[in-house]
Amino acid sequence: MGLLVTLVMKYLPLVLGFLIGKTIIKLVLRRWELQKIFKAFSGPKPHFLWGNTKELFGDYQGLVRMAELAHVYSGAYPAWTGPADAQLVIVTSGTTRAVLAGADPKDEFSNSLLGPWIGDGLLLSHGKKWERTRRLLTPAFHSDNLKNYIKTFEECSKELVKKWQHSTEPEEVFQHVSLLTLDIIMQCLFGFHSNCQSGSVLHPYIQGVYDVSELVAKRVVNPLYHYKFIYKLSGNGKRFQAACDAIHEHSERIIRERRSLIASEKPGTRNMDFLDVLLTAKDRDDVSLSDKEIRDEVNTFIFEGHESTASTITWFLYNMAKHPEYQNKCREEILEVIGKDKEITWSWVHRDPEVWENPHEYDPERFHPDKRVSSLIHMPFSTGPRKCIGMQFALTQVKVVACEILRNFHIDLDPPHEATPESILFLRSKSGVYLKFIKLPVEGVPIL
Ligand code: HEM
Repeated sequence: MGLLVTLVMKYLPLVLGFLIGKTIIKLVLRRWELQKIFKAFSGPKPHFLWGNTKELFGDYQGLVRMAELAHVYSGAYPAWTGPADAQLVIVTSGTTRAVLAGADPKDEFSNSLLGPWIGDGLLLSHGKKWERTRRLLTPAFHSDNLKNYIKTFEECSKELVKKWQHSTEPEEVFQHVSLLTLDIIMQCLFGFHSNCQSGSVLHPYIQGVYDVSELVAKRVVNPLYHYKFIYKLSGNGKRFQAACDAIHEHSERIIRERRSLIASEKPGTRNMDFLDVLLTAKDRDDVSLSDKEIRDEVNTFIFEGHESTASTITWFLYNMAKHPEYQNKCREEILEVIGKDKEITWSWVHRDPEVWENPHEYDPERFHPDKRVSSLIHMPFSTGPRKCIGMQFALTQVKVVACEILRNFHIDLDPPHEATPESILFLRSKSGVYLKFIKLPVEGVPIL
């Protein structure tokens, strides 16, 4: 024993030195390889350790700077996210289109960031596996199937309206809306009623989804956490793994329970939801998805389907509060639509000054149907083969939720709480989005 301790003490510094040396050589080689790849592009000077993280990532100003620099460097430039990590930033529509026309694999960092949670589902898979899954799942999002979900969109929105009915204090909107979109996606796609909007304690599964979303966002902005081995040893890395394990255990239970329901029920007795599609789908060779593949899709759709929509709805409400003239116009349009069954004009923001006049100004009129904005320059759901599969689901959901809220409330800003946008995977606000919801005395009639 004594000899063993002596040997360990003697050789430990050597072993540690070897491991550290190996890591440094790996980093230097990777840095050199990236410098070679990006040699043809000029870009902002990176800090040796932090790269361009501080100036370009995290907060909203970084996002604006990222877009501005694309024009300084002719549409594309490398942005370093650490000493041996870089990505090519592409902002102008011409280059974006060329990249999105392909269905290339996602980068290594996205895989290591999200892989332990959402596995090799539709977002992260590529090649033959992606093609097969995309073909199997696309029919589930056909507009005919979406009709079955509208009732759930309405019922869940009404629950939110009920919460805000007697509100006297400003509400932090993102928090409520992300529970709403989580409630919607869990009910519509997996028939799972978590009561997450009304309960005072979050269901452990919902808490798990919350925790991993939060931890992923924290990892993005910390360059040290970009290295797998450091992250795994850190407290956040351990919490992330524990939350992933809890989520997987729960998704597996939902899948098991549905499998036995399908086996015991008479076919055609209820509407098929997305989970039924996953469990019964067969590819051209008559092969079904494995339990692990189904679990990965369940988690992929929860990840892709809730925060993106929550962010859209929250910023929509914020803009309604900030621009009361549009709030009233929208409300008028809603009443008209409810009466006449016509499409609602919708608004999104892209900021290429070569394409949009006053790109930073809130001007939903630029999306008026008469103006026919090309889908090649306006692509919030991406474009090409990997464009968002849930686009119609999301758009319909956002419209139903917006209708329900605007019919019931006048929305005001809360001046002491200024929203400070930050972009970490999805657009959020560092300081929250606080708004006042004033119940309209007569539904749909604005307060003048
Ligand atoms: C306003 C809300 C949403 C926005 C802005 C949005 C946007 C996007 C974008 C830009 C992509 C391409 C990502 C990439 O290539 O890396 C994408 C992919 C995807 N989205 Fe969405 N999305 C939204 C809502 C949803 C919803 C509600 C679902 C599910 C019901 C969903 C499921 C997916 C999936 C599975 C992919 C991967 C598709 C593939 O690679 O084949 N999304 N989304």
